[in-house]
Amino acid sequence: MIEDILSIKTLAEEDVKKADDLGTIQSIRIKYLGKKGILTDRIKSLSSIPKAERAEYGCVINETKDYIERIITQREEEFKTSELGTLLKARHIDVTVPGNFVPCGHNHPTSNVLEEIIDVFVSLGFRVEDGPEVELDYYNFEALNIPKDHPARDMQDTFYITDDIVLRTHTSPVQVRVMERDKPPIRVIAPGKVYRCDTDVSHTPMFHQIEGFMVDEHISMGDLKGVLEMFIHAVFGANTKVRFRPSFFPFTEPSAEIDIGCLICKGRGCKVCKNSGWVEILGAGMINPRVFEMVGYNPESYTGFAFGMGIERITMLKYGIDDIRLFFENDKRFLEQF
Ligand code: PHE
Repeated sequence: MIEDILSIKTLAEEDVKKADDLGTIQSIRIKYLGKKGILTDRIKSLSSIPKAERAEYGCVINETKDYIERIITQREEEFKTSELGTLLKARHIDVTVPGNFVPCGHNHPTSNVLEEIIDVFVSLGFRVEDGPEVELDYYNFEALNIPKDHPARDMQDTFYITDDIVLRTHTSPVQVRVMERDKPPIRVIAPGKVYRCDTDVSHTPMFHQIEGFMVDEHISMGDLKGVLEMFIHAVFGANTKVRFRPSFFPFTEPSAEIDIGCLICKGRGCKVCKNSGWVEILGAGMINPRVFEMVGYNPESYTGFAFGMGIERITMLKYGIDDIRLFFENDKRFLEQF
């Protein structure tokens, strides 16, 4: 009987030795130690053994059981560790390998400059408004003191939709729309698309402008100068020279064109500034009392300034771009530089 147990021990030893994976070792455990296992079976029959031999026999069975249990568990552990090792090797991540490049788009240069300009004016207390691109002749011209047969209409090459409806030629109609609706004090900027029937290196049929205006009691040309100088220094650098030059717009009086010292040649004279050392960047002036009358403001009580500029023009000067058409050709070699 003892021999029987010892042969079970040898068989189990051989099985464990032969096992080559975790699954097999687990079935070996069931084979010998499971509920219906070979050794379990012998333990169950212990009661039928004559009393005299039972103690010794029981002792051998127990020892064998512990032994088999031990060699199985040991082998099991070995398999578990090596499986973990294989798993770790298979899933190994080399964090030093350079990543895959994922191309990512970005804003158009005019959008970036527009954002920058808006930020400057918002920091000065201006709020952003917009208006329609398909505009009534009344807002685009008449309410801005440009009557139908006025020669000033020739300053802008207008796309007419009907006799009374145009594609807006500038953002100035937003001045009229806002003033018709709101009472002073007003501090507004109005960016957007404008349209003119014109095309060459510095003109495209559609471009962007930003309008700005401020209306209150006692607003003076000094306020206009202060605001525009702050803006120019913020966008072009604190050392940029600024010059106000007398000009004419029907909706402002007096009117001025604002030049900055040429950024390309630093004022020495070059192609961009046509050897003058100065480049024009925007139009401005004190809002004409006639415009106030059109929107129902009392020109005796209020004064205000207005200005308007082309975003593409500002972007060209800021980055030294010499052809406005580049902005609209969608050539990635150009756009990726910004
Ligand atoms: N609207 C003018 C233009 O398009 C610019 C301007 C705006 C001038 C406001 C004076 C005041 O040329």
